[in-house]
Amino acid sequence: MDNQNPVFVTQPSLAPLEEFVELLKGVWERGILTHNGPLVQRLEKELEQKLGIEHLAVNTNGTIALQMAIRALEIKGEIITTPFTWVATVSAIKWEGCTPVFCDIDPETLNIDPAKIEALITPNTVAIMPVHVFGTPCDVDAIDAIAKKHNLKVIYDGAHAIGSSVNGKSLLAYGDITATSLHATKLFNTAEGGACIAANKELLDKLNRIRFFGHNDAKDVIEDGFNGKMTEVHAALGLANMKYFDEVLADRKAKYNIYLEALKANPKFTFQKVKHGETNYSYFPVIFETEEELLAVEKKLNAQKLFPRRYFYPSVNTYTKIVEGQACPVSEDISKRILCLPHYWKLTSDEQNLIIKILLD
Ligand SMILES: Cc1ncc(COP(=O)(O)O)c(C=O)c1O
Repeated sequence: MDNQNPVFVTQPSLAPLEEFVELLKGVWERGILTHNGPLVQRLEKELEQKLGIEHLAVNTNGTIALQMAIRALEIKGEIITTPFTWVATVSAIKWEGCTPVFCDIDPETLNIDPAKIEALITPNTVAIMPVHVFGTPCDVDAIDAIAKKHNLKVIYDGAHAIGSSVNGKSLLAYGDITATSLHATKLFNTAEGGACIAANKELLDKLNRIRFFGHNDAKDVIEDGFNGKMTEVHAALGLANMKYFDEVLADRKAKYNIYLEALKANPKFTFQKVKHGETNYSYFPVIFETEEELLAVEKKLNAQKLFPRRYFYPSVNTYTKIVEGQACPVSEDISKRILCLPHYWKLTSDEQNLIIKILLD
């Protein structure tokens, strides 16, 4: 069978348009478009309830959420992070005047390797910023123990992590602050959007002030803030999509297992291991034996209008125009050999079967 329509690595999960429009009618009636409006407040409550967490503040996007987290914790210095990530993790650190220090990854989980963190700690280290790559939880207990021992803050980049859990608790509840992304490509989206989840009410209040120009309730400016507000239109999309949260999650899990069952016996491929807690199954990365094999398969897929994504490639420590190039051999090697397959709500079984057939060819 020849594939007719292009299939990209992902597509946004969207509620039926009428359900979004229904919520927009209220926005038009109230004439409130932003400034912590009723839909933003409702979205925050619904997300907290859905995930069983507290102290969540939505905002414009996941990158700004990371910056808000650094700002709220009032840290300046070196932040130990992973090179196997999207560049936003590192740009957020740099925009807040801090220095990224790269710690190599565990070749199985693809997350920061806790055994390599301590050797990188210097008197200037202020925090650790691990990423729950592809929704797979980091070793949160080991990271927490290191942070406590050295009096460091932990900010998780949980851009991919909504719906994942550790010890039965949402993964977003870990660290001093977790920043997540609600971008169009994420499991749950508000088109553009993000959120910070803080460890306590005091930090939450500070985050709320930071996203609103540093204003407190009395409209005094008491923080060095900026504009990180989510609009009512974005919140309306989030609320419409919220109804489908469980369905989207279950669908990802089912499709993930179809890929895994079909591909796992083939010695040419290896897969990200989930060693701590439960993933949200939101990506399906395949690790090839060599970059050449990856490129050959990618070419065959592209010929059928199937467009997987080399995610994360290249390893961020190699962006020497913006960072000092520390060597991270595991991350550099894996980034050359990893390909994320198309994996989203409306991917059809014909499309998924064709992808599998080409991989096994
Ligand atoms: C690991 C990681 N961190 C941060 C971000 C930034 O999120 P946003 O696009 O919402 O700014 C992304 C975006 O995809 C990401 O993948």
